[in-house]
Amino acid sequence: EMEGAILDLDGVITDTAEFHFLSWKRMAEEEGIEFEREDNEKLRGLSRRHSLELILGERIDEFSEDEMERLMSKKNSYYQERIAEMDEDDMLPGARELMEECRERGMQLAIASASKNARIVLENLGITSEFEAISDGYSVKNPKPAPDLFLHTADKLGLSAEKCLVVEDAESGIDGALKAGMMAVGVGPEDRLDHAHIRFDSVEDVDLDEIIERDENL
Ligand code: G6P
Ligand code: MG
Repeated sequence: EMEGAILDLDGVITDTAEFHFLSWKRMAEEEGIEFEREDNEKLRGLSRRHSLELILGERIDEFSEDEMERLMSKKNSYYQERIAEMDEDDMLPGARELMEECRERGMQLAIASASKNARIVLENLGITSEFEAISDGYSVKNPKPAPDLFLHTADKLGLSAEKCLVVEDAESGIDGALKAGMMAVGVGPEDRLDHAHIRFDSVEDVDLDEIIERDENL
C-alpha cells in the first residue's frame, strides 16, 4: 500500500530546466566558459555545485574555491530573476491532477528537490501548503544520486521507504529513489530513465493505477 508520494520539483511539477540553462549560459558567456545546450541535459537533477563542476570540465583546476563560489552566486542571481516571474500558470500539464489523485487515495504529499530555490518556486506556484513535507537543497548533505534526500523526506512524513513512491525526471533522481528502496517512477525519455521501476513520457501520462499495480508485483 502506497501512503506517500514524494515529488521532484524541477521537471515534474514545473519546467525550470530552461531557466537553469539560460542562467548557466549567461554566466558562462560572461566568463568565457564554453557551455552548449547539448550539455544541459546532463545537469538535470544535479546540485548547483555538481552542475558547475560538469560545466567547467577539465578547466576546473583554473578556478579557486572563491572563484567557483562567485560563478555559482552569479548563476543563481540570474536564475532568481527568472523564477521571480513565475506564477500559478507555470505548473506542468498534469502536475496538479497528479497531486489531486494522490490525495484522493489518501496519500501524503511531499517535495524532494535538490534546489535551494525550491521554496521560492513553490510559493510562486501557490502550492506550498499542499505538501506535508518539503525537502530542498538545504535538507541533507549528500545530494542526489544519494538516497539521503528521499529517506529524509519519508522520515518527515513518518513513513517507511516501501510505502513511498518517488516521481522524478532525472537519472540521478531515479538512482536515489532506487537506493532509498522506494517505488521509482520516471517521467521522460527511455534513454534517460530506463532504470526506473515504471516510466511515462510526461507528467500528463502518469497513471496511478498502473503504478500501484506494478508496485504490488515488485
Ligand atoms: C534541480 C535542478 C537542477 C539544479 C538543482 C539545484 O535539481 O533540476 O538543474 O541544478 O535543482 O538548484 P539550485 O536552485 O539550488 O541552484
Ligand atoms: Mg528534476
